[in-house]
Amino acid sequence: MEARAIHHVGVAVDDLDAAVATYERLFGGRLEHRERVEEQGVEAASMRIGDSRVELLAALGEDTPVGRFLAKRGPGMHHVAYAVDDVEAALTSLAAAGAELIDPRPRRGMFGLEVAFVHPESAHGVLSEVVSVG
Ligand code: CO
Repeated sequence: MEARAIHHVGVAVDDLDAAVATYERLFGGRLEHRERVEEQGVEAASMRIGDSRVELLAALGEDTPVGRFLAKRGPGMHHVAYAVDDVEAALTSLAAAGAELIDPRPRRGMFGLEVAFVHPESAHGVLSEVVSVG
């Protein structure tokens, strides 16, 4: 599988409003989308920074994936997402290459995009995401 580019970097934060303001003030980020997804226990803000993006992730509760991440590690880098043409094809290729898939099938991620996650142990400790841009 050959990813096209890094689509975004995900950052877990304690306070989404404060984080949006910080990325605007420090790096000239512009808020692209903001979405609350109850079933995933997360509120996310996609910040456009030049041609790139940072996805800020705040937990809706302690017993959510991002809530558990924050409790264990504190705010900081959460994942790297790669742009691919086809998530299904990327998963087939990743599995064949020996990656451990968290999502064996594509699912709907933030902002209506099709995504899937790869276990951090398969990418030297970094939770990795593939995002469809096809
Ligand atoms: Co992401």
